[in-house]
Amino acid sequence: MRVLGIETSCDETGIAIYDTEQGLLSHALYSQVKLHADYGGVVPELASRDHVRKTLPLIRKALADANLTAADIDGVAYTAGPGLIGALLVGATIGRSLAFGWNVPAVGVHHMEGHLLAPMLEEKQPEFPFIALLVSGGHTQLVQVDGIGEYILLGESVDDAAGEAFDKTAKLLGLDYPGGPRLAAMADKGVADRFVFPRPMTDKPGLNFSFSGLKTAAAQAIAKNGKDAQTQADIARAFQDAVVDTLIIKCQRALKQTGLNRLVVAGGVSANVRLRAMLEETMHKRGGEVFYPRSEFCTDNGAMIAFAGAQRLVAQQTADLEVKVRPRWPLTELAPL
Ligand SMILES: Nc1ncnc2c1ncn2[C@@H]1O[C@H](COP(=O)(O)OP(=O)(O)OP(=O)(O)O)[C@@H](O)[C@H]1O
Ligand SMILES: [Mg+2]
Repeated sequence: MRVLGIETSCDETGIAIYDTEQGLLSHALYSQVKLHADYGGVVPELASRDHVRKTLPLIRKALADANLTAADIDGVAYTAGPGLIGALLVGATIGRSLAFGWNVPAVGVHHMEGHLLAPMLEEKQPEFPFIALLVSGGHTQLVQVDGIGEYILLGESVDDAAGEAFDKTAKLLGLDYPGGPRLAAMADKGVADRFVFPRPMTDKPGLNFSFSGLKTAAAQAIAKNGKDAQTQADIARAFQDAVVDTLIIKCQRALKQTGLNRLVVAGGVSANVRLRAMLEETMHKRGGEVFYPRSEFCTDNGAMIAFAGAQRLVAQQTADLEVKVRPRWPLTELAPL
């Protein structure tokens, strides 16, 4: 089955074609980062309008890149939530309408299920069950994954998501939006342990996270120590080390609690090189395995939506003709395959 995937939940238009026999045939991405940079964050209405401009041209490009025409598509998958309502409506309306016009089934995909299954687009694939650490701009979650759609939420952030904390701290350091990857690059030049920030919520049991205090710790360090380049890099390093350490402590706790030894890490922050290196080391020591998507599929993309949608379409889980999106949509409400 050949599935067209459409991702428009936030500020990236992602389109891909996934074939259940041949794998990923093509993918195309347009990032709106420049459009929102002046505002220091995503402006929802501008995002929706840009998706309107980009979605159809990118679908044409993805088809052409794969040497296919619309007649070769057997199903359409679009992100139905969670995300910005206007942005979601663009992809869902286009996806649902194309499927109707082409007389093929459609399915609305959960964006975080897309992130969670993205490592399955790689050669080294995790077997079920595993623990998933979802770390993105809007989510920090530890999930026990027993199969597709079989999710038990073990813990999540009680305030800022990990990516959000990266972006807000980057802003304090004078870095442009989206600051996460820029802060990570700055941290590479920082000296370890000149500043030491707390590892929030690691001193009591449980698997929830809290990252908003780290941003305050960074703000105080900046106020006290000034803004010369080395001090800023040292603060970036302290922040990144605190987030990475905290994520690793909680992952180990989740593995111990469930008796599992396979870990999947996905979402934008899983592109962080330091986090990946520390996870490799930790999992190697425990004799376990860690899986993640290739870097370009850590952040939002169409490939993960085409893949997740294909699994659901093969299982004959299809959307009816109504265009339905859910800006808020708990992962645990999904049906098993
Ligand atoms: N190398 C990196 N180090 C740290 N953070 C990073 C890195 N690369 C990307 N990020 C962060 O990842 C986030 C973007 O990830 P993603 O696109 O998955 O999130 P989102 O789609 O905005 O949120 P969600 O998926 O929860 O709706 C941003 O917060 C960004 O700063
Ligand atoms: Mg995302």
